[in-house]
Amino acid sequence: MDEKKTIFSGVQPSGNITLGNYLGAIKNWVNLQEEYRCIYAMMDLHAITVRQNPQELRKRTLDLLKIYIACGIDPEKSLLFIQSQVPHHAQLAWVLNCYTYMGELSRMTQFKDKSSKHADNINAGLFTYPVLMASDILLYQADLVPVGKDQMQHIEITRDIAERFNGVYCQEGNPVFKIPEGFMPKAGAKVMSLTEPTKKMSKSDENPKAYISLLDDLSVIEKKIKSAVTDSEGVIEYRPDDDAKAGINNLLTIMSAVTGKDIDKIVAEYQGKGYGDFKKDVAEAVVEEIRPIRARYDELSNDKQYLVDICEKGAIEASKIAGRTLSKVYKKVGFVQ
Ligand code: TYM
Repeated sequence: MDEKKTIFSGVQPSGNITLGNYLGAIKNWVNLQEEYRCIYAMMDLHAITVRQNPQELRKRTLDLLKIYIACGIDPEKSLLFIQSQVPHHAQLAWVLNCYTYMGELSRMTQFKDKSSKHADNINAGLFTYPVLMASDILLYQADLVPVGKDQMQHIEITRDIAERFNGVYCQEGNPVFKIPEGFMPKAGAKVMSLTEPTKKMSKSDENPKAYISLLDDLSVIEKKIKSAVTDSEGVIEYRPDDDAKAGINNLLTIMSAVTGKDIDKIVAEYQGKGYGDFKKDVAEAVVEEIRPIRARYDELSNDKQYLVDICEKGAIEASKIAGRTLSKVYKKVGFVQ
């Protein structure tokens, strides 16, 4: 038996993968590969809760795999697959839908946000999205789920659903589901927009200046950081509860996440210096972090078969693990097998 604890996480192929996705999630995943059994997926079922162009979705899903690999996820060490290629996700989601309350789902902030942004398409999938996410995690009996701050509420509901199901069917011990924990990075769990720093940096933002895409040209990244919105105070200080300081707080966070230095130390280094100097250094640090990722990404670009093979192999392996959990669930609820 594999003694290692299990990690599960994923990103939706629904837009340009941003610095927020990288610092909040993917960078953390890379570091966990040695110690844990890691499973990372491209969450295309989640992506269709808002309208997607089919060709683009297909392309973005494989591009996302390339990004994972370029960021340092090693397909020999981690299990990588496309969510829609493992039917157990949708199957478990149906069962768990029957163990989740409308009231809990209507409290999800992501649902509230997305339904106000897509008022013409508030579909049932958008509403039950957290149940699919719970299924993703619970199928693999994950111990830890490395995500950014915006997903922590979904981890909480995953725990609630799992506990509820175990409570109904597993009173004599031997629970069907392991109760997972969320895991956020020390810095970078919530990277903010560069143009409206009180809002989260989002890959679906209409304004490309608001986010840094990992696939932006390095010169564009530099420009975006240098023109990030700050304030007129001219003092480099970290005041997380002060919205007027949101731009500088964000740049300090990004600097800390990229360099690994504590924010206090960075603040001390920039005492008496101006925003121009600081932004220049943040831009350089981010560019140097992304440069090798871009180089690896470009190398992989022409090798579609390599990517398709990884997905095929990954889906077979993931189905084996997911199948074990699903068959326990089917047995518990009373389906003839
Ligand atoms: P998604 O695709 O919106 O984001 C992927 C990951 O990036 C993190 N993230 C951020 N972190 C810091 N700052 C930001 N501005 C920022 N924006 C995004 C997210 O927290 C996430 O970790 N529902 C998930 C995908 C998913 C999933 C799962 C994740 C589906 N099933 C199971 C974990 C486990 C989502 O929409 O993430």
